[in-house]
Order: sequence, then C-alpha cells, then structure tokens
Amino acid sequence: MDYLEIVGGSKLKGAITISGAKNAALPIIAATLLSDKPLTLTNLPNVVDIRTLLKLLTMLGGSVEHNETIANINNSDIQSTKAVYEIVSQMRASILVLGPLLTRFGECEVSLPGGCAIGQRPIDLHLKALESMGATIEIKGGYVRAEAKDGLHGAKIIFDKITVGGTENVVMAAAMAHGTTNIINAAKEPEVVQLCEMIASAGIEIEGIGTNELTIEGTCGKPLEFPTIEVIPDRIEAGTYLCAAAITSSSITLNKVNAGHLRASIDKLESMGCSFDIEDESITIHPAITLKPVDLITIEYPGFPTDMQAQFMAVAVIAEGESLIEERLFENRFMHVSELNRLGADIWLKGSTAAVKGVSTLYGADVMATDLRASSALVLAALVAEGTTNVRRIYHLDRGYDDLEGKLSSLGAQITRKKEV
Ligand code: UD1
Repeated sequence: MDYLEIVGGSKLKGAITISGAKNAALPIIAATLLSDKPLTLTNLPNVVDIRTLLKLLTMLGGSVEHNETIANINNSDIQSTKAVYEIVSQMRASILVLGPLLTRFGECEVSLPGGCAIGQRPIDLHLKALESMGATIEIKGGYVRAEAKDGLHGAKIIFDKITVGGTENVVMAAAMAHGTTNIINAAKEPEVVQLCEMIASAGIEIEGIGTNELTIEGTCGKPLEFPTIEVIPDRIEAGTYLCAAAITSSSITLNKVNAGHLRASIDKLESMGCSFDIEDESITIHPAITLKPVDLITIEYPGFPTDMQAQFMAVAVIAEGESLIEERLFENRFMHVSELNRLGADIWLKGSTAAVKGVSTLYGADVMATDLRASSALVLAALVAEGTTNVRRIYHLDRGYDDLEGKLSSLGAQITRKKEV
C-alpha cells in the first residue's frame, strides 16, 4: 500500500492545471449507456473512480478505449445489465447505471452500494422515483432488481430531499421514457447541470436546467446520439488547491477552472483574509496577512459544499481565533477531526458541529486517511506541520485526486509517494 511522506514548511508558488471533475465525469460515463452509437469523452480526470466505472461498462459488454483523459466508448453491444458487487462495492456512484440501464433495456440488476465511511447514504429516493415512473423494484440477495418491460413512463417526482445522484438517475431514466417527467426539488450542482446539457445535446428537450425544477421529454425508448463531451473543471480539486495556498500563506494560480462554480469557497476564503485575481479560466489566490477564523454550514449548491468541509477545517486549524463548522448533509463526515488533532489541532465536536480553536503550530505525525476529502485535509495540514507527516491509506485520495503529489510538488511542496514495507 502507498503512503505520502510530507515535510511541512515549504511555501507554494507557480501554476497548475485543474483536471476534469470526477463527479461530473461519473454520471456522464453512466449516461453513455443511453446511446447505441460510439462517442468520445474528453478532459476526464485520471483517477481510480473513473477507471472503475469504465471497467463496469466493459463488464456489461461496452467497448472502451481509455487513455488518461480521453475515452472512446461504444455501448451498441451491451450483453449484460447486471452491475456486480465487485464494482459497486468499490464505488457507490456505480448506482448511477441504474436509471440508464433500466430505461434502455427494461430491466437491470445493480448491487446495493451499502453505507460508507461518511454515513449511511441510502438510495431510497432513487428507487421511489423510478417506481413512480413504472418500475417494479425488488431487493434480493444484496441486489436492486428493477424491471419495466414496456419502458418507463414520465411522472411528476417530488424529491423529499435534494439528492445529486437521485436527480442524475432520474434525468437519465426520463431521457428515454415515454412522455414528460417533471422533477421538483431537483439538485442543481454544476455536475447535474452538465449531465442535463449532455442529454439536451442529444436533442432531448429539458426545461429548467440549473434550477430546482426540471422537465424532460423522453424519446419513448429510442436511444440517444451524443456529440463529444468535454468534462467541466473539478471545483472540489480547485477548492482544495486554494486551501493549500491559504494554509501555507502562498500565492498560486489555477488554470482551467470555472470561478463561478467556486463562489462559495472563494467567498469563505475572502472572509478569512485571502484575496483573488479572477480571469476567464484562471484564478490567482493571494494569502491573508492574518488568517481569520471562519463559520460555515454545508448545504446544497450554490451553498457551501460538503466536499470542501474537511479542507476548510484544516485551514481553520491554524487561523487566529475560533471557527464553527456545521455538517448538514452527511452524519459521519468528521473522521478527519481526530487525525487533525493528532497533528496538534484543537477541535471539539458536538453533534454535527465542530468548534475549531486556531493553534500557532502543528507537528508532523503518522495519520490515516479515512475518506476521499478527509484525506486531502490531512495533506493540507501536513503542508504546514513542523517535521514529517506520513499520510497512510491514500487509496482514498487516488479515487478522486488526479496526480495530487505531482501537482503539489510542482508548486514546491515536499511530498513523496512511498510504499509501505
Ligand atoms: C454526491 C457527490 C458527493 C457529494 C454529495 C453531496 C457524486 C459521485 N458524489 O453524492 O461527492 O458529497 O453529492 O453534494 O457526485 N439521500 C437519501 N436518500 C437517497 C439519496 C440521498 O436520504 O436516496 C441523502 C444522503 O444520505 C445525503 C443527502 O441525501 O444526506 C445528499 O446525498 P446525495 O446528494 O444523493 O449525494 P450523492 O449523490 O451520493
């Protein structure tokens, strides 16, 4: 198993290019199942989660040529509609094949993803929505078995809670359904918007893209034909590097970003004293003279993203004063707290709120990554800790950060990937 050895204390400088968004690429890859024609995806991030979902396509009978950031995919000859445990257990987002497989083939089986480190993460809202579109669903042997022999029909779906994956599954299902689907309380994250735009680029009428109400006209079972799709920049990767600059009191430039998608993170970093030069596709961050504490609550887009909570906590750890961080989306997304405290942070947890008292110094130690974003928070803290920090179990980081150590090294960080002996 690999780990990262980080020697803290270096300032960062220079520029890096942000990769395509993992969370946009995953539903896009799932949506290719709606087509029986070859298509190309570009600007894919070179991360494990993408390779896992592409492997699932090949297991279903799809043909995939994948070269780092580009994939040529042809799903004209799908032989199986079963997404097996071996893949789904590696990555929850595999549940995104449920909607497209069911709407195109009238049946499918997808392994239940189960809980994960950050919480229970049920899929009840996905299933309830597909049932209201005419699917018969049973759960047996750890699998969701869904059937709609004559295809799905349009329906009015009111989500009790805003769900990114649930909205994506229904948008894909609706694209080939009979009639009109109306989604109320839909997610409007940029990744959902890109999926809707991809579906619209195949000639499907979608109203309300980027709002909480979507109306989709289905093709009555006719597969879709997509142009080449370029994945949007990863706002979470970009936000993580902005936090790396903030915590190390450095100035860096990020290229190939969409600053509009990063508004919540930029606003919070501004309130902490950082400043920004924002151009068309690049952002330069300048450090705070004195890093101020921050109060934040995670909520759906355009609010502050839960996927940035851990990284901001790492920055708050060395701010001058006390920060309050409330996690509203996932019940167990504070596992980085005890690891940050091992580095010398002073964080107290009460329910879904963390009180972070800024400290002047962190000290290197061995720490363990527990989930994707928690892992990046440990890397950020290690960048300023005195001495050496070893971040273990970095397979979590490899799932979602494209060449993290390469990009940080090019900015001047002392970070090396090593193998456990
Ligand atoms: C996606 C992102 C993840 C991000 C999350 C919230 C991907 C691949 N992952 O996850 O990085 O942290 O959005 O922005 O895009 N819920 C239910 N029932 C359901 C579905 C969800 O109760 O059927 C709950 C979840 O437990 C959670 C909340 O709804 O509390 C939001 O989850 P959801 O938006 O569905 O997250 P994901 O799509 O899994």
